[in-house]
Amino acid sequence: MTIGIIGSGTMGSGIAQVAATSGCKVKLYDTNRAALDKAEAALEKILLRLIEKGRIDSEEKNRIQGNIDYVENLKDLANSNLTIEAIVENLDVKKKVFSELETYVDSNCIIASNTSSLSIASIASALKNPERCIGIHFFNPAPLMQLVEVIPAIQTSNEVLEFTVKTIENWNKVVAVAKDTPGFIVNRVARPFYGESLRIYEEGIADFASIDRSLKTLGNFKMGPFELMDFIGNDVNYTVTETVFQAFYYDPRYRPSFTQKRFTEAGYLGRKSGKGFYNYDDNGSIVVQSDSEEFDNKVLAQQIFDRVLVMLINEAADALFLNIASAKDIDNAMTKGVNYPKGLLAWANEKGIDWCVKQMDALYDEYREERYRCSPLLRKMSRENQTFF
Ligand code: NAI
Repeated sequence: MTIGIIGSGTMGSGIAQVAATSGCKVKLYDTNRAALDKAEAALEKILLRLIEKGRIDSEEKNRIQGNIDYVENLKDLANSNLTIEAIVENLDVKKKVFSELETYVDSNCIIASNTSSLSIASIASALKNPERCIGIHFFNPAPLMQLVEVIPAIQTSNEVLEFTVKTIENWNKVVAVAKDTPGFIVNRVARPFYGESLRIYEEGIADFASIDRSLKTLGNFKMGPFELMDFIGNDVNYTVTETVFQAFYYDPRYRPSFTQKRFTEAGYLGRKSGKGFYNYDDNGSIVVQSDSEEFDNKVLAQQIFDRVLVMLINEAADALFLNIASAKDIDNAMTKGVNYPKGLLAWANEKGIDWCVKQMDALYDEYREERYRCSPLLRKMSRENQTFF
């Protein structure tokens, strides 16, 4: 199979590696020669490291590299069976590239986008044959992250969806099929991890480190929300939240935080700028402040953890309620796309659906904000004594 990839930046080069490793022929295209050279050099380094670790041999390295052609003309993608676009996140630019690409490729060629935030329906509308368009959303770094969200637009044909899912599964990825709605699964369901933690901080309940510690020790999250925001970059994370908020017609549940906005404005972007919610040394490790107090209030730690967890569960339940994806795909998305220690719906079963409803109702009673409204699905399940799965 021949895969055309448009854009050889962070995502395009990673996707090229995944496809080439699985034995596909890849045409990796970029308008910028330097970006192509950079992608080629980066792959050389990655594969050498894999040899060092004993994960591949030099024959395998040659095979993977031999599968990728670095091309400077969109026309060179003409023989592709599937093309995946990973260029700038700009609808007009994407539409222009898609309509030009359609004039070169075969009528059976699937034309996919790796967009994180644009609607697939809007991108597909640039094509004469929009049934062939689909979202294929990889996570960064593409070769390491197991999850791929596949997003059929309202125009997408069933054959295109089926072929896409099969192809991506053959690349040893876990596929979660998501409705074409803002944030798809992961970027929607994960919002409370950041938003509720920021809110807890803003209320003065606890500091960044204490909130992080609650989630790590009681929830087994690998990184606390503030560590993770610093790692992702406050600018990037803030923009995702703002985009999702706007796309949901300003649903207050997704309202961004002034704290994170100010950190972004101040240039406290996180690890990449040496300062975010934490300070970082030259190796990117957190500098522990000597005056930072150990947070040992167990009751408060549990309250913080429960509050963030139930908000995540509520969001996951609502995604299921609104048919964004199946329960299995929602749980897979969070464990394989953002490494959550457990699927949120499985977690809801474990905590008890009644517990979830009570927690949400207690938050709502306290604040009287729409943000804390319990998902109708949880309420119905509690009434009918049901569990997920
Ligand atoms: P990037 O900035 O690393 O790479 C974009 C590449 O596209 C650059 O090499 C640029 O030269 C090239 N390009 C720009 N316009 C082009 C055109 N008209 N034709 C051909 N090449 C062109 O961007 P990145 O981070 O790889 O993101 C690409 C896409 O993937 C975006 O839609 C983004 O939203 C999405 N995405 C990004 C993720 C991330 O963590 N970076 C995760 C998942 C999706």
